[in-house]
Amino acid sequence: MNILAVESSCDETAVAVVRDGRTVLTDCVASQIEMHRIYGGVVPEIASRKHVEVIAGLAEHALERAGLTRADIDAVAVTYAPGLIGAVLVGVNFAKAAAYALGVPLIPVHHVRGHIAANYITHPELEPPFVCLCVSGGTTAIVDVRGYTEMEVLGATRDDAAGECFDKVARVLGIGYPGGGPMDRLAQGGDPARYELPRAHVQDAELDMSFSGLKTAALNLIHNAAQKGEQLELRDFAASFGQAVSDSLVPRVMEASRRLGYGRVAVAGGVAANSRIRADLTKACESSGDRLFLPELKLCGDNGAMIGCQGYYEYLAGTRGDMELNAYANLDISLR
Ligand code: KG4
Repeated sequence: MNILAVESSCDETAVAVVRDGRTVLTDCVASQIEMHRIYGGVVPEIASRKHVEVIAGLAEHALERAGLTRADIDAVAVTYAPGLIGAVLVGVNFAKAAAYALGVPLIPVHHVRGHIAANYITHPELEPPFVCLCVSGGTTAIVDVRGYTEMEVLGATRDDAAGECFDKVARVLGIGYPGGGPMDRLAQGGDPARYELPRAHVQDAELDMSFSGLKTAALNLIHNAAQKGEQLELRDFAASFGQAVSDSLVPRVMEASRRLGYGRVAVAGGVAANSRIRADLTKACESSGDRLFLPELKLCGDNGAMIGCQGYYEYLAGTRGDMELNAYANLDISLR
């Protein structure tokens, strides 16, 4: 079964063709990052307009790269939530038109479920159940993946997402947008214990997280140093910040895994590319005996392949959209 998969929830327009869920025939991504960089963050209106400009051409290009024609497509899958509403709407409307024109089923896909599914592409042997740490620019959650389409959030951030924190701190440091990658590279070889940064605990909710205090503390450190005319040791600062984020995530996902007892831990989303988090999870799983699944780096960020993969399992479970399908800025991952 060939699925044409469409993703446009933020600043990447992506179209992929995925066969039978796990074979990626092509995965085309048109990034808008350069466009948003001058503003220091994603400008939603510009994102929507750019999606409109490129999406049809990108879909034609994807079919060509896959060596297929329109007649070879059996279904169209699309991210319909969560994301920047104007941006998601572009993908949803394109997918509706494509499914209608081709006379094939339309499959709505939850964006974070897609991120989780990126692991199925990297690890063909991975099957639910497992526990997944989902960390991106908009989401930070620990998810019980009971089945391909049955999921429950066990803990989540009460305020900022981890990726958002990386981006804000990097912006103030002036080291680029999106900031997670540059912060990660800057942290290499730095001393993670040099700067004291907080690790928050949410009372009576052991698996919930909070990053706003860490973000504020990091920004205060930067501003105070600037006011005193002191030079922050940037490598050590980036390493200390990355360590504080990792310390807020890793013990919680390991606790969730201990409670569930599946023996399998996965990570998903843009922040899953972070080398500190990957290293700390590897160490934690070695000592707990859990098997760790890390998505390959190119599948951590937004892409169409992950939507095509999850779309296949949604299709098997009977999930269908129709011409009334809407886009949603927020949606619980347990709903579909
Ligand atoms: O999954 P994604 O591409 O988009 C969303 O669905 O949000 O995630 C983007 C986020 C950004 O906040 C970016 O700074 C962060 O992932 N990111 C990283 C790294 N690479 C990307 N954060 C930490 N370390 C990285 N190496």
